[in-house]
Amino acid sequence: MKNLQTKQQIIVTGLKPTGYPHMGNYLGMLKPALELGKDKQNKCFYFIPDYHALNTVQNKDKMHLFLKEVIVTFLALMDEQDHQNIILYQQSKVPTISQAMLIIQNLCPKGMMNRAHAYKSMKDKYNGSVDEHVNMGLYNYPILMAADILVMGADLVPVGADQKQHVEYARDLIDKFNKTYSTQILKRPKAHINHKVATVSGLDGRKMSKSYNNIIPLFASENELRKLIMKIKTDSKTAEEPKDKDHLLYIMYENFATSSEIAEMNSYFGAGIGYGEIKNRVFEVIRRELEEPRLRYLEYLNNDKKIAEILKSGAEIAMDQSEPYIQEMKRAVGIRLFDC
Ligand code: TRP
Repeated sequence: MKNLQTKQQIIVTGLKPTGYPHMGNYLGMLKPALELGKDKQNKCFYFIPDYHALNTVQNKDKMHLFLKEVIVTFLALMDEQDHQNIILYQQSKVPTISQAMLIIQNLCPKGMMNRAHAYKSMKDKYNGSVDEHVNMGLYNYPILMAADILVMGADLVPVGADQKQHVEYARDLIDKFNKTYSTQILKRPKAHINHKVATVSGLDGRKMSKSYNNIIPLFASENELRKLIMKIKTDSKTAEEPKDKDHLLYIMYENFATSSEIAEMNSYFGAGIGYGEIKNRVFEVIRRELEEPRLRYLEYLNNDKKIAEILKSGAEIAMDQSEPYIQEMKRAVGIRLFDC
Protein backbone atom coordinates (compact mmCIF):
# COMPACT_ATOMS: atom_id res chain seq x y z
CA MET A 1 0.00 0.00 0.00
CA LYS A 2 2.95 2.34 -0.18
CA ASN A 3 1.35 4.28 -3.02
CA LEU A 4 -1.54 5.37 -0.84
CA GLN A 5 0.73 7.03 1.67
CA THR A 6 3.20 8.69 -0.61
CA LYS A 7 4.34 12.23 0.24
CA GLN A 8 4.75 13.13 -3.39
CA GLN A 9 2.16 15.29 -5.09
CA ILE A 10 0.30 13.33 -7.71
CA ILE A 11 -0.75 15.43 -10.69
CA VAL A 12 -3.27 14.08 -13.19
CA THR A 13 -4.59 15.57 -16.39
CA GLY A 14 -5.71 14.59 -19.86
CA LEU A 15 -6.21 16.10 -23.29
CA LYS A 16 -8.99 14.63 -25.42
CA PRO A 17 -8.09 13.47 -28.93
CA THR A 18 -10.89 15.36 -30.63
CA GLY A 19 -8.90 17.71 -32.86
CA TYR A 20 -5.55 19.40 -33.38
CA PRO A 21 -4.25 20.72 -30.04
CA HIS A 22 -4.39 24.51 -30.12
CA MET A 23 -3.26 27.62 -28.33
CA GLY A 24 -6.25 27.47 -25.96
CA ASN A 25 -5.26 23.96 -24.85
CA TYR A 26 -1.66 25.04 -24.45
CA LEU A 27 -2.28 28.11 -22.31
CA GLY A 28 -5.18 26.67 -20.37
CA MET A 29 -3.77 23.27 -19.53
CA LEU A 30 -0.62 22.00 -21.24
CA LYS A 31 1.74 24.76 -20.21
CA PRO A 32 0.73 24.80 -16.53
CA ALA A 33 0.80 20.99 -16.47
CA LEU A 34 4.29 20.88 -17.94
CA GLU A 35 5.49 23.49 -15.48
CA LEU A 36 4.26 21.30 -12.62
CA GLY A 37 6.29 18.50 -14.18
CA LYS A 38 9.49 20.50 -13.64
CA ASP A 39 9.20 20.07 -9.88
CA LYS A 40 10.88 16.86 -8.74
CA GLN A 41 8.40 16.54 -5.86
CA ASN A 42 5.63 16.00 -8.36
CA LYS A 43 4.74 12.77 -10.07
CA CYS A 44 2.67 13.55 -13.13
CA PHE A 45 0.23 11.15 -14.77
CA TYR A 46 -0.73 12.72 -18.08
CA PHE A 47 -2.92 10.81 -20.43
CA ILE A 48 -4.96 10.78 -23.60
CA PRO A 49 -8.63 10.21 -22.72
CA ASP A 50 -9.46 8.18 -25.81
CA TYR A 51 -12.63 6.62 -24.37
CA HIS A 52 -13.86 10.14 -23.63
CA ALA A 53 -13.33 11.18 -27.24
CA LEU A 54 -15.55 8.38 -28.55
CA ASN A 55 -18.62 10.38 -27.65
CA THR A 56 -17.82 12.77 -30.49
CA VAL A 57 -15.17 11.22 -32.74
CA GLN A 58 -16.91 8.27 -34.36
CA ASN A 59 -14.67 7.64 -37.33
CA LYS A 60 -11.62 5.39 -37.15
CA ASP A 61 -9.34 7.47 -39.41
CA LYS A 62 -10.14 10.65 -37.55
CA MET A 63 -9.51 8.95 -34.24
CA HIS A 64 -6.12 7.73 -35.49
CA LEU A 65 -5.23 11.22 -36.63
CA PHE A 66 -6.26 13.03 -33.44
CA LEU A 67 -4.83 10.38 -31.15
CA LYS A 68 -1.45 10.71 -32.76
CA GLU A 69 -1.62 14.51 -32.78
CA VAL A 70 -2.32 14.69 -29.07
CA ILE A 71 0.33 12.13 -28.16
CA VAL A 72 2.95 13.79 -30.33
CA THR A 73 2.02 17.18 -28.88
CA PHE A 74 2.61 16.01 -25.32
CA LEU A 75 5.90 14.41 -26.32
CA ALA A 76 7.03 17.45 -28.27
CA LEU A 77 6.56 19.65 -25.23
CA MET A 78 8.64 17.38 -23.00
CA ASP A 79 12.42 17.51 -22.86
CA GLU A 80 14.49 14.58 -21.64
CA GLN A 81 14.38 15.71 -18.04
CA ASP A 82 10.58 15.94 -18.09
CA HIS A 83 10.36 12.22 -18.81
CA GLN A 84 11.68 11.60 -15.27
CA ASN A 85 8.57 13.13 -13.69
CA ILE A 86 5.89 12.81 -16.33
CA ILE A 87 4.24 9.52 -17.25
CA LEU A 88 2.28 9.50 -20.48
CA TYR A 89 -0.39 6.91 -21.24
CA GLN A 90 -3.52 6.17 -23.19
CA GLN A 91 -6.66 5.87 -21.05
CA SER A 92 -7.81 2.71 -22.82
CA LYS A 93 -4.54 0.97 -21.94
CA VAL A 94 -5.23 1.34 -18.22
CA PRO A 95 -8.30 -0.76 -17.41
CA THR A 96 -8.34 0.17 -13.71
CA ILE A 97 -9.84 3.50 -14.83
CA SER A 98 -12.92 1.89 -16.36
CA GLN A 99 -13.25 -0.41 -13.34
CA ALA A 100 -13.27 2.62 -11.06
CA MET A 101 -15.95 4.19 -13.23
CA LEU A 102 -18.14 1.08 -12.95
CA ILE A 103 -17.95 1.40 -9.19
CA ILE A 104 -18.50 5.12 -8.71
CA GLN A 105 -21.31 5.48 -11.24
CA ASN A 106 -23.51 3.83 -8.63
CA LEU A 107 -22.96 6.75 -6.29
CA CYS A 108 -23.80 9.38 -8.85
CA PRO A 109 -27.31 10.83 -8.83
CA LYS A 110 -28.76 11.30 -12.30
CA GLY A 111 -29.66 14.88 -11.39
CA MET A 112 -25.98 15.71 -10.99
CA MET A 113 -25.36 14.69 -14.59
CA ASN A 114 -28.38 16.74 -15.71
CA ARG A 115 -26.61 19.80 -14.34
CA ALA A 116 -23.28 19.12 -16.05
CA HIS A 117 -22.24 21.94 -18.42
CA ALA A 118 -21.69 19.77 -21.49
CA TYR A 119 -25.09 18.14 -21.15
CA LYS A 120 -26.81 21.44 -20.38
CA SER A 121 -25.40 23.11 -23.45
CA MET A 122 -26.69 20.23 -25.59
CA LYS A 123 -30.07 20.73 -23.96
CA ASP A 124 -30.06 24.40 -24.97
CA LYS A 125 -28.97 23.50 -28.46
CA TYR A 126 -31.72 20.94 -29.07
CA ASN A 127 -34.28 22.45 -26.77
CA GLY A 128 -36.54 19.61 -25.77
CA SER A 129 -35.41 16.72 -27.94
CA VAL A 130 -32.05 16.47 -26.20
CA ASP A 131 -32.38 12.82 -25.23
CA GLU A 132 -32.30 11.68 -28.83
CA HIS A 133 -29.08 13.57 -29.44
CA VAL A 134 -27.05 12.95 -26.34
CA ASN A 135 -25.27 9.64 -26.15
CA MET A 136 -24.52 8.02 -22.82
CA GLY A 137 -20.80 8.66 -23.28
CA LEU A 138 -21.44 12.38 -23.17
CA TYR A 139 -23.97 12.07 -20.38
CA ASN A 140 -21.64 10.02 -18.19
CA TYR A 141 -18.55 11.98 -19.16
CA PRO A 142 -18.02 13.52 -15.70
CA ILE A 143 -18.12 10.10 -14.03
CA LEU A 144 -15.39 8.73 -16.27
CA MET A 145 -13.37 11.87 -15.66
CA ALA A 146 -13.75 11.42 -11.91
CA ALA A 147 -12.51 7.85 -12.32
CA ASP A 148 -9.44 9.09 -14.27
CA ILE A 149 -8.61 11.34 -11.37
CA LEU A 150 -9.40 9.31 -8.30
CA VAL A 151 -7.91 6.01 -9.40
CA MET A 152 -4.46 7.60 -9.63
CA GLY A 153 -4.82 9.26 -6.23
CA ALA A 154 -4.54 12.75 -7.71
CA ASP A 155 -3.77 15.73 -5.48
CA LEU A 156 -3.85 18.32 -8.24
CA VAL A 157 -5.60 18.46 -11.60
CA PRO A 158 -4.38 21.12 -14.05
CA VAL A 159 -7.32 22.04 -16.29
CA GLY A 160 -8.67 24.88 -18.34
CA ALA A 161 -11.24 27.06 -16.56
CA ASP A 162 -14.05 25.31 -18.48
CA GLN A 163 -13.25 22.05 -16.69
CA LYS A 164 -13.58 23.38 -13.16
CA GLN A 165 -17.04 21.92 -12.71
CA HIS A 166 -15.79 18.48 -13.71
CA VAL A 167 -13.12 18.55 -11.04
CA GLU A 168 -15.73 19.63 -8.49
CA TYR A 169 -17.88 16.68 -9.56
CA ALA A 170 -14.91 14.39 -9.04
CA ARG A 171 -14.53 15.74 -5.51
CA ASP A 172 -18.25 15.25 -4.84
CA LEU A 173 -18.12 11.65 -6.01
CA ILE A 174 -15.02 11.02 -3.94
CA ASP A 175 -16.78 12.42 -0.87
CA LYS A 176 -19.81 10.27 -1.56
CA PHE A 177 -17.63 7.19 -1.86
CA ASN A 178 -15.68 7.86 1.31
CA LYS A 179 -18.86 8.68 3.22
CA THR A 180 -20.95 5.78 1.95
CA TYR A 181 -18.26 3.25 2.75
CA SER A 182 -16.90 5.01 5.87
CA THR A 183 -13.40 5.17 4.52
CA GLN A 184 -10.74 7.72 3.64
CA ILE A 185 -9.07 5.83 0.83
CA LEU A 186 -9.90 8.26 -1.95
CA LYS A 187 -8.02 11.56 -1.98
CA ARG A 188 -9.72 14.90 -2.65
CA PRO A 189 -8.00 16.64 -5.57
CA LYS A 190 -7.83 20.35 -6.29
CA ALA A 191 -8.16 21.96 -9.70
CA HIS A 192 -5.07 23.88 -10.83
CA ILE A 193 -6.16 26.70 -13.11
CA ASN A 194 -4.01 29.18 -14.97
CA HIS A 195 -5.59 32.44 -13.87
CA LYS A 196 -3.70 34.38 -16.47
CA VAL A 197 -6.16 32.87 -18.95
CA ALA A 198 -9.85 32.83 -18.18
CA THR A 199 -11.00 31.78 -21.61
CA VAL A 200 -8.76 32.00 -24.62
CA SER A 201 -10.61 33.64 -27.47
CA GLY A 202 -10.01 32.60 -31.06
CA LEU A 203 -9.10 34.42 -34.27
CA ASP A 204 -12.58 35.92 -34.54
CA GLY A 205 -12.97 36.93 -30.89
CA ARG A 206 -15.27 34.06 -29.90
CA LYS A 207 -13.96 31.33 -27.56
CA MET A 208 -11.15 29.41 -29.26
CA SER A 209 -12.70 26.13 -30.30
CA LYS A 210 -12.38 23.74 -33.18
CA SER A 211 -16.14 23.88 -33.61
CA TYR A 212 -15.88 27.60 -34.46
CA ASN A 213 -12.99 27.00 -36.82
CA ASN A 214 -11.05 29.83 -35.19
CA ILE A 215 -8.10 28.02 -33.64
CA ILE A 216 -4.37 28.59 -33.75
CA PRO A 217 -2.94 25.05 -33.98
CA LEU A 218 -0.04 24.75 -31.60
CA PHE A 219 2.31 23.31 -34.16
CA ALA A 220 1.30 25.24 -37.21
CA SER A 221 4.39 25.94 -39.32
CA GLU A 222 6.07 29.27 -38.61
CA ASN A 223 4.62 30.72 -41.80
CA GLU A 224 1.16 29.57 -40.94
CA LEU A 225 1.53 30.85 -37.38
CA ARG A 226 2.51 34.27 -38.64
CA LYS A 227 -0.44 34.33 -41.04
CA LEU A 228 -2.89 33.31 -38.32
CA ILE A 229 -1.62 35.92 -35.91
CA MET A 230 -1.98 38.57 -38.58
CA LYS A 231 -5.60 37.41 -39.05
CA ILE A 232 -6.58 37.92 -35.38
CA LYS A 233 -9.48 40.30 -35.26
CA THR A 234 -8.71 43.67 -33.66
CA ASP A 235 -10.69 46.81 -33.14
CA SER A 236 -9.93 50.11 -34.84
CA LYS A 237 -7.89 51.66 -32.03
CA THR A 238 -4.94 53.66 -33.25
CA ALA A 239 -1.40 53.30 -31.93
CA GLU A 240 -2.02 56.15 -29.51
CA GLU A 241 -5.16 54.72 -27.92
CA PRO A 242 -5.08 52.41 -24.85
CA LYS A 243 -5.93 48.81 -25.70
CA ASP A 244 -7.93 46.06 -24.09
CA LYS A 245 -5.89 43.63 -22.01
CA ASP A 246 -8.47 40.85 -22.34
CA HIS A 247 -7.57 40.62 -26.00
CA LEU A 248 -6.09 37.36 -27.28
CA LEU A 249 -2.96 39.21 -28.40
CA TYR A 250 -2.24 40.51 -24.94
CA ILE A 251 -3.08 37.19 -23.28
CA MET A 252 -0.68 35.34 -25.55
CA TYR A 253 2.03 37.91 -25.02
CA GLU A 254 1.60 37.74 -21.28
CA ASN A 255 2.00 33.97 -21.35
CA PHE A 256 4.96 33.74 -23.71
CA ALA A 257 7.06 36.83 -23.01
CA THR A 258 9.61 37.35 -20.24
CA SER A 259 8.65 39.62 -17.34
CA SER A 260 10.81 42.46 -18.63
CA GLU A 261 9.25 42.14 -22.08
CA ILE A 262 5.81 42.21 -20.47
CA ALA A 263 6.71 45.29 -18.44
CA GLU A 264 7.85 47.01 -21.61
CA MET A 265 4.73 45.97 -23.49
CA ASN A 266 2.57 47.18 -20.59
CA SER A 267 3.95 50.64 -20.91
CA TYR A 268 3.15 50.59 -24.60
CA PHE A 269 -0.09 48.66 -24.46
CA GLY A 270 -1.80 51.53 -22.78
CA ALA A 271 -0.85 53.71 -25.68
CA GLY A 272 1.98 54.07 -28.14
CA ILE A 273 1.97 50.86 -30.15
CA GLY A 274 -0.19 49.78 -33.09
CA TYR A 275 -1.72 46.35 -33.60
CA GLY A 276 0.65 45.55 -36.47
CA GLU A 277 3.69 45.90 -34.23
CA ILE A 278 1.97 44.09 -31.36
CA LYS A 279 1.29 41.18 -33.72
CA ASN A 280 4.94 41.03 -34.78
CA ARG A 281 6.05 40.84 -31.18
CA VAL A 282 3.47 38.23 -30.27
CA PHE A 283 4.58 36.09 -33.19
CA GLU A 284 8.20 36.36 -32.14
CA VAL A 285 7.71 35.28 -28.51
CA ILE A 286 5.57 32.32 -29.53
CA ARG A 287 8.01 31.27 -32.23
CA ARG A 288 10.85 31.42 -29.73
CA GLU A 289 9.14 29.22 -27.15
CA LEU A 290 7.87 26.63 -29.61
CA GLU A 291 10.95 26.39 -31.80
CA GLU A 292 12.51 23.45 -29.98
CA PRO A 293 9.22 21.61 -29.32
CA ARG A 294 8.36 21.99 -33.02
CA LEU A 295 11.52 20.10 -33.96
CA ARG A 296 10.63 17.31 -31.55
CA TYR A 297 7.06 17.32 -32.88
CA LEU A 298 8.34 16.66 -36.40
CA GLU A 299 10.68 13.93 -35.18
CA TYR A 300 8.00 12.09 -33.23
CA LEU A 301 5.56 12.27 -36.11
CA ASN A 302 7.85 9.85 -37.93
CA ASN A 303 8.72 7.64 -35.02
CA ASP A 304 5.80 5.38 -34.13
CA LYS A 305 8.16 2.85 -32.60
CA LYS A 306 9.43 5.32 -30.02
CA ILE A 307 5.87 6.47 -29.29
CA ALA A 308 4.78 2.87 -28.72
CA GLU A 309 7.63 2.27 -26.26
CA ILE A 310 6.81 5.37 -24.24
CA LEU A 311 3.09 4.59 -24.12
CA LYS A 312 3.71 0.98 -23.15
CA SER A 313 5.87 1.86 -20.22
CA GLY A 314 3.52 4.72 -19.28
CA ALA A 315 0.54 2.36 -19.13
CA GLU A 316 2.50 -0.06 -16.95
CA ILE A 317 3.43 2.65 -14.48
CA ALA A 318 -0.13 4.00 -14.43
CA MET A 319 -1.42 0.48 -13.75
CA ASP A 320 1.00 0.14 -10.82
CA GLN A 321 -0.10 3.50 -9.46
CA SER A 322 -3.82 2.76 -9.73
CA GLU A 323 -3.87 -0.90 -8.71
CA PRO A 324 -3.80 -0.24 -4.92
CA TYR A 325 -6.67 2.22 -5.24
CA ILE A 326 -8.88 -0.10 -7.24
CA GLN A 327 -8.16 -2.98 -4.88
CA GLU A 328 -9.03 -0.83 -1.86
CA MET A 329 -12.20 0.36 -3.57
CA LYS A 330 -13.26 -3.21 -4.27
CA ARG A 331 -12.55 -4.14 -0.69
CA ALA A 332 -14.46 -1.14 0.64
CA VAL A 333 -17.60 -1.85 -1.40
CA GLY A 334 -17.53 -5.50 -0.42
CA ILE A 335 -16.92 -7.23 -3.74
CA ARG A 336 -13.42 -8.26 -2.77
CA LEU A 337 -14.29 -10.99 -0.31
CA PHE A 338 -11.94 -13.77 -1.24
CA ASP A 339 -8.24 -13.35 -1.78
CA CYS A 340 -8.13 -14.39 -5.41
N1 TRP B 1 -12.49 16.74 -19.84
C1 TRP B 1 -11.18 17.20 -20.15
C2 TRP B 1 -11.29 18.20 -21.32
O1 TRP B 1 -12.23 18.14 -22.08
C3 TRP B 1 -10.24 16.09 -20.49
C4 TRP B 1 -10.11 15.09 -19.39
C5 TRP B 1 -10.62 13.83 -19.35
C6 TRP B 1 -9.43 15.31 -18.15
N2 TRP B 1 -10.28 13.24 -18.18
C7 TRP B 1 -9.57 14.11 -17.42
C8 TRP B 1 -8.74 16.40 -17.60
C9 TRP B 1 -9.02 13.97 -16.13
C10 TRP B 1 -8.21 16.25 -16.32
C11 TRP B 1 -8.34 15.05 -15.60
O2 TRP B 1 -10.42 19.01 -21.49
